[in-house]
Amino acid sequence: MGSIWTAETEIRSREPLSGDISVEAVVIGAGMAGILAAYYLQQAGITVAVLEADRIGSGQTKNTTAKITSQHNLIYDSLIRTFGNRMAEHYARANEEAIGEFERLILEKGIECNFVKCPAFLYSRAEEVSLKREAAAAASLGIKASFETDSELPFSVAGVTRFDGQARFQPLRFLEKLSEEVTVYEQTRALKAEGKQVETDRGCVTAEHIVFATHFPFPNVPGYYFARMYQERSYVMALEGAGRLEGMYLGVDPDGLSFRPYGEFLLLGGGSHRTGVNRREGRPAGRAVRDRQGVEMPERGCRYGWLREQARAFYPGCSEAAHWSAQDCMTLDGIPYIGRFSERRSGWYVATGFGKWGMTTAMAGARILTALITGQECPEADIFSPQRHFTARAAKELLSHGAYTVKGLAKHLLPAENDRIIPNCPHMGCRLEWNPDEESYDCPCHGSRFDREGHLIDNPAQTNCRRRNRS
Ligand code: FES
Repeated sequence: MGSIWTAETEIRSREPLSGDISVEAVVIGAGMAGILAAYYLQQAGITVAVLEADRIGSGQTKNTTAKITSQHNLIYDSLIRTFGNRMAEHYARANEEAIGEFERLILEKGIECNFVKCPAFLYSRAEEVSLKREAAAAASLGIKASFETDSELPFSVAGVTRFDGQARFQPLRFLEKLSEEVTVYEQTRALKAEGKQVETDRGCVTAEHIVFATHFPFPNVPGYYFARMYQERSYVMALEGAGRLEGMYLGVDPDGLSFRPYGEFLLLGGGSHRTGVNRREGRPAGRAVRDRQGVEMPERGCRYGWLREQARAFYPGCSEAAHWSAQDCMTLDGIPYIGRFSERRSGWYVATGFGKWGMTTAMAGARILTALITGQECPEADIFSPQRHFTARAAKELLSHGAYTVKGLAKHLLPAENDRIIPNCPHMGCRLEWNPDEESYDCPCHGSRFDREGHLIDNPAQTNCRRRNRS
């Protein structure tokens, strides 16, 4: 089932690339990050072309819950302690300005995309200490943030951290309008980048600047993003008859839920897990795993079922209008990689690893990359730089990420159950896992996904799975 945004938006299709071209900048990926980057580069007087393997907005943009916020879970207290006040302030300012820029653009162009300003909340049912700390940290960085004890949620909470001046919108309607202002080649898959050239299946693009806005960048070397990121899936349900909320809410407890209103609907989200990994892996078999509130956590194969149970418990009588899932790139330290792709490739840029906050950081990323490419000052770029210093949290995550990769690679030696495809990931060979929730083969190493027949759904892999020779 597709997202609620897909069901109500039809973006005009574009012609594929036909032959070789030269432009000043080429952007790979026509999701929110790619289209925004192309738009701002063009505004700065640069000739741009966007390459898209499928259709505009057909990647992760169509599956977002479309919150435009500087509130990104519990982050500011940790940012201050890890990177210091100045860099934490840069993170806050880049995201606060991104909210303002969305509003300015939408008003200036008259884009009808259900843009609504509203507060955003973090909630906990278990404790308030971290929420108070987060509110104080965010406020010290200039964000309108406070701690409160009341909420609109259908259960009692220990407290909430409130951010004012946040927003939400319909992302595909926004993209539909903005993409009219840039040149996009659809059905044009970038296969290889070398120096100033991007080779596609439809021709070659020569450009002084190459921007990788492909969700997960496909070149493995240099940059080594495959070793510095993994992917997470999370699940969303659009409910009718669940009442109305003014704000958007995210639970910070294990398996906390996300609540986000949209017109008559309430979008209820949760059940996050590393792509390709059974969330109960490593837990005692046959024993229920419960969160701190005693709610049983979902097993593989019943995540939508678990979300339905939550919906029924909190909103008896509600009905389900749609359900879908999202896939997010997670960095080792929780901050996106936006900036120069690698010190070894001048003219290459990247915007990736947005975590669950891809709308706001896509805007922040587009503005940072435009500043870097046009040689303008951009103090906020330091915290997002892919070459930033390695933190203790990143080192710990790197070990855990490495362990999943080793396990995934080792498993590929086992005999496979599928008799039509070879279920080893074409990216780097890890053994794929069947995901019954999505009916897809998912890679536990870096998160590529394939349908039942082995056709590529999500990168970093660039090709379909190999098929078995039946003769
Ligand atoms: Fe890298 Fe599968 S996504 S090995």
